[in-house]
Parts: sequence; C-alpha cells; structure tokens
Amino acid sequence: MNQSTNKYTFKIFRYDPERSPRARYDTFSLEVAKGMTVLDCLQAIKASQDGTLSFRRSCRSAICGSCAMNINGKNDLACHLQVSLLGGRTVTVDPLPGFPVIRDLVVDLEEFYRSLERVLPWLVRSSPFPDKELPQSPAERDRIDSAVNCILCGSCTSSCPSFWFNTRYLAPAALLKAYRFIFDSRDEAKGERLELVDDRNGLWRCRTIYNCEEACPKLLKPNEAIAALKIEALKQSV
Ligand code: SF4
Ligand code: F3S
Ligand code: FES
Repeated sequence: MNQSTNKYTFKIFRYDPERSPRARYDTFSLEVAKGMTVLDCLQAIKASQDGTLSFRRSCRSAICGSCAMNINGKNDLACHLQVSLLGGRTVTVDPLPGFPVIRDLVVDLEEFYRSLERVLPWLVRSSPFPDKELPQSPAERDRIDSAVNCILCGSCTSSCPSFWFNTRYLAPAALLKAYRFIFDSRDEAKGERLELVDDRNGLWRCRTIYNCEEACPKLLKPNEAIAALKIEALKQSV
C-alpha cells in the first residue's frame, strides 16, 4: 500500500442474525484525514460504503460510553481513539468481547445493567436530608473522586476473564460503582452494600487479573477499588 496516501483498511466484524447465523469480517478501504477517530471512520464507511453497518454512538466526546468496542484487540472508545495513533494501516474492529452480539458491533448489555442494579447505584440514607446541600470535605470527595468518573462503557467488564466464565459475576464496572457508594461519606448503607458484593457472584470472583485496569479508557482502576472492597468485607466479617 502507498504510505504517502492516508488510505487505511478496516476489517470489521459483521453479524446479522436475520440474514445469516454466521459472523464474518468485511473489509473496507478508507482515506483517513489527520485527527479522524475510529468512530469518524465507521460513520464515513456507513455513509459512503455500507449503510447497514451497525454500531452505537451518541456524545462523540468520550462521556456517554456508548461507542466502546474492541479496536486492534483492545477495548476502547471509538470516538476517542485517533486512527493515526494506531500502529499500521489495518484497523480491526470487533464488538466488546464477553457480551452477546445483537448485530455487527452492537452488543447486548442487559446483564451489565442488571449487575449495576444489584449494587444499588444511588445514595441511600435513613437520616433525613438537610434543607440545603449535604456537605462533603475535599478528603472525603477524594476517596471516591475517580470512581465518580466512570462512564459505564463496559470496557472493563468485557475484558475480565472471570466475567467471560460467569456472567452472573458482578464484574469490575458494578463493583467500582459499589465502591463509589460504600466509600461515599454521605451514604448510610455501607453494611447492606458490603453484604451485596460479598456473595458468591461478587467480590471474590475477582482473581486479580487486572485486565480491567488496562481496558479502562478513562484510566480508572476498578482492580484497586475491588481490593479495597475485599478489605472492607473482611473487616465487616470479623
Ligand atoms: Fe468504562 Fe472504566 Fe467505567 Fe469500566 S471503569 S465502565 S472501563 S469507564
Ligand atoms: Fe477481572 Fe479486573 Fe479482577 S480483570 S479478575 S475484575 S482485577
Ligand atoms: Fe459517547 Fe463515544 S460516543 S463515548
């Protein structure tokens, strides 16, 4: 291929159960301008070469989490990753591993959201809320600061072999959410929350594989949150 042009080859996973039970890869050639992201390229391919190509996207600003997919073997946000930063001229795009594929790059996230629901992802209080704000010191906020930045893209859970083996495992994204409330100074359900994550499909299914840390496009560390939760669960059990 002529390296002076910006022509890239996109090898994209395709699956449409209404047409065929078999998945395949389709190959597209595209002129990529400087700064174009993988999502820009998918949109260009959809607009000019194959309108049936299916993928999720919304914000195009790395904040909604909907465009997570597997790009050249690594989970990432398609709207965040510039093609020029990838080595080589072939970009292979797959759906997030570990989730059932609905169509092309669109996966079924029902189990993912069910896990999230299991950890009660909202503030729980038995004491009445004050008339004004519920204050939190900078140090208290620091404890949960990075966990609050999770955009629920699913990249971490999708990269976890314990989740591949058992999709009932709460998995890193839901456990990070549990951490975010267990260590929130304003929450009053720490004991109940720890019991929820300390069950047979909870915390201890984490085998410290650490793929989740590498997969997170927001540079969060669900593995460290899980380690902190394990310590809290042990403290509660003695
Ligand atoms: Fe995505 Fe990171 Fe949140 Fe996991 S921890 S869901 S990878 S933002
Ligand atoms: Fe999975 Fe991360 Fe634990 S990859 S096994 S949740 S450290
Ligand atoms: Fe929202 Fe990529 S489109 S994170």
